[in-house]
Amino acid sequence: MSAPRRPVLAGNWKMNHGPSETVRFFADFLAMHEPADDRTVVFFPPAISFAAAKEATQGRPDVRLGVQNVYWEASGAFTGELSVGMARDAGAELVLIGHSERRHVFGETSAETAKKVRAVLAGGLTPVLCVGETLDERQADRAEAVVAEQLEPVLAILSADEVAELVVAYEPVWAIGTGVTATPQDAAAMHAAVRARLAQAFGQEAADAVPVLYGGSVKPDNAAELMSQPGVDGVLVGGASLDAQGFAGICRAAG
Ligand code: PGA
Repeated sequence: MSAPRRPVLAGNWKMNHGPSETVRFFADFLAMHEPADDRTVVFFPPAISFAAAKEATQGRPDVRLGVQNVYWEASGAFTGELSVGMARDAGAELVLIGHSERRHVFGETSAETAKKVRAVLAGGLTPVLCVGETLDERQADRAEAVVAEQLEPVLAILSADEVAELVVAYEPVWAIGTGVTATPQDAAAMHAAVRARLAQAFGQEAADAVPVLYGGSVKPDNAAELMSQPGVDGVLVGGASLDAQGFAGICRAAG
């Protein structure tokens, strides 16, 4: 049997917490959150707050940092974008790719997410690939098909070795920021579908090594039940990660 996957507790701040609020957040959070080497805690602050987050977490290697998006080119005339090399230089270890707001607000395609995953892996960082269906797609019984379509272009560019570097986050669009969470059973079923697709492409052992996180209205009072489901290896938290006390509670809920 392969080694158990380490729980991942990830906070996606989206366009919240500028540099000053970032300093305040970490002063509170780090006082409440005991270092624990049996789980991975990671924050995705806005790029402009990254340096403040890095400085605030010096001396706490148990807290990792990532960026919310990158462009696939290394440098050049791409106003508003940042490259993988820049993110690495600033101290990022992970990169969110294809978050539902990137896909649905900014029109990012699955083909573009694949280019970004390629660039992130080439730069030695860990991509956290976000997938998930809309309410219409779920009601049309297409949830698994949509997630498979979103995974497809990424799996097509990965080698079996590289898949071990991947993290997947299943985030149903209808659950993000709505207060409606997938039932633990629905989450478990979708996580099983994601892992089955990974296993089909790369074999069961490679698939078993990939952490699959759940995201969508995760709160301190539902995190433990979601994470107790088979195949749910952690959570990607938006709104509830902005509150230091709440997110410290979610980190404790990993067991
Ligand atoms: P939410 O967001 O926890 O506010 O629903 C989750 C996410 O978008 O990653």
